[in-house]
Amino acid sequence: HDRYDLVVVANRLPVDFSVRPGGGVDWQRSPGGLVTALEPVMQHADGAWVGWSGAPDLASDPFDADGMRLVPVTLSESEIERYYEGFSNDTLWPLYHDVVSTPAYHRQWWDAYRRVNQRFAEAAAAQAADGAVVWVHDYQLQLVPRLLRELRPDLRIGFFDHIPFPPVELFQQLPWRRQIVEGLLGADLVGFQRGGDASNFIRAVRRLTDYTTRGPIVTMDEGRGRQSGTAARHVRAGAFPISIDATRFDALARTPEVQTRAKEIRAELGDPDVVMLGVDRLDYTKGIRHRIKAYGELLGDGRIDAARTTLVQVASPSRENVGAYQELRQQVEVLVGRINGEFGELGHSAIHYLHHSYPPEEMAALYLAADVMLVTSLRDGMNLVAKEYIAARSDEQGVLVLSEFTGAADELGAGPVLINPHDIEGTKDAIVTAARMTAREQRRRMRRLRRKVIADDVAKWSHTFLGVLQAMPRRTSPHA
Ligand code: G6P
Repeated sequence: HDRYDLVVVANRLPVDFSVRPGGGVDWQRSPGGLVTALEPVMQHADGAWVGWSGAPDLASDPFDADGMRLVPVTLSESEIERYYEGFSNDTLWPLYHDVVSTPAYHRQWWDAYRRVNQRFAEAAAAQAADGAVVWVHDYQLQLVPRLLRELRPDLRIGFFDHIPFPPVELFQQLPWRRQIVEGLLGADLVGFQRGGDASNFIRAVRRLTDYTTRGPIVTMDEGRGRQSGTAARHVRAGAFPISIDATRFDALARTPEVQTRAKEIRAELGDPDVVMLGVDRLDYTKGIRHRIKAYGELLGDGRIDAARTTLVQVASPSRENVGAYQELRQQVEVLVGRINGEFGELGHSAIHYLHHSYPPEEMAALYLAADVMLVTSLRDGMNLVAKEYIAARSDEQGVLVLSEFTGAADELGAGPVLINPHDIEGTKDAIVTAARMTAREQRRRMRRLRRKVIADDVAKWSHTFLGVLQAMPRRTSPHA
């Protein structure tokens, strides 16, 4: 059969491709968060997933995997450079994360972004059954909702932004700000991580278009309205904070293999009194330098004992062709080297810096081995690492130090030790508080955190979003 009732459109497919020596391609499942979230709904609803294969010029026909239809979109080398590395990750990514790195604005990147978004829209239009639901994901594809509506006015279209939506005072730097807002308004429902992101978006609609807004509802008087007698369409914006498959992660962390591995990790680290942990993509939004600086100063001050404490920093490789990521890597590696040189001993490192990514089993073991989890993002849409740490800790021990500038901080309330990562003195105090927290206080906080994370898991997230989308009035409604 060839048309699907639910079509997901995301920059990446949930598989990795590799080219066989003799030609032809192989694929392997990639364990991303989004696919664990959507797989059950996709299998149930007869779903197709449209996304990039992840390598240049790699073409493959649609194929079935794990009960879904996967539909690869091919990108050329120059499109990867301009649409993915350029506009998505060197323009939008820094702009949407409070310009913590300076966004670059290039017209050729924008042209490629438009063209590639058009191609994704066409691929989705070709897969969707009559009246199907299409769910578009993230900042790489903000023009798809409108382009798709032009091709297929019969569809119900949802969009979810996984990263922050910036205040209009920053957003208005973008030379193509109006096109982006109009692109998103092609959807029936535009979802964000936080209430603040949704209200930033509504403010952008008010400032940059002449559509009417009432609370979170935008009225699109298509064909400009009353006189022409055309119908209006409503777009709803709202917060739908994403989560993880908490039950699955909790179960993984309870397996004997993971439990044993966690003890082994502590032993391999030389059985320090305190193990601290950072887990991030190597990205300048994560505040890795701020975290390491605070930690280094604490070792220097002697407020934490260099001989009895270790920081494990997992920094998984990311977007390595983008200049700002290359610079960050240099800076982090210089900083780690300096601190290890100053405070390390034979057989004991102050910081274990790991520039790799690890499978979920090893991550779960690391979380269990860590007394203090450091999440110090300068800006972060949600931060799922914080939720994974909580889900792993069925022993109700461990302390989460969490930046105020994450979506997770909005949700998790008083359980974590909250910090402003720009405030190095405050961050140092928080790390000391976390390292000295009594087992009893750790339990009190972790219980609360676990209740929240286990109740509001990712299945609830996707059901809530799709439920609200499906309850939206169908297509057009007569003008009031
Ligand atoms: C963030 C974005 C995702 C993206 C992921 C990994 O979580 O919201 O859309 O897929 O980072 O980045 P990459 O550029 O490797 O896809």
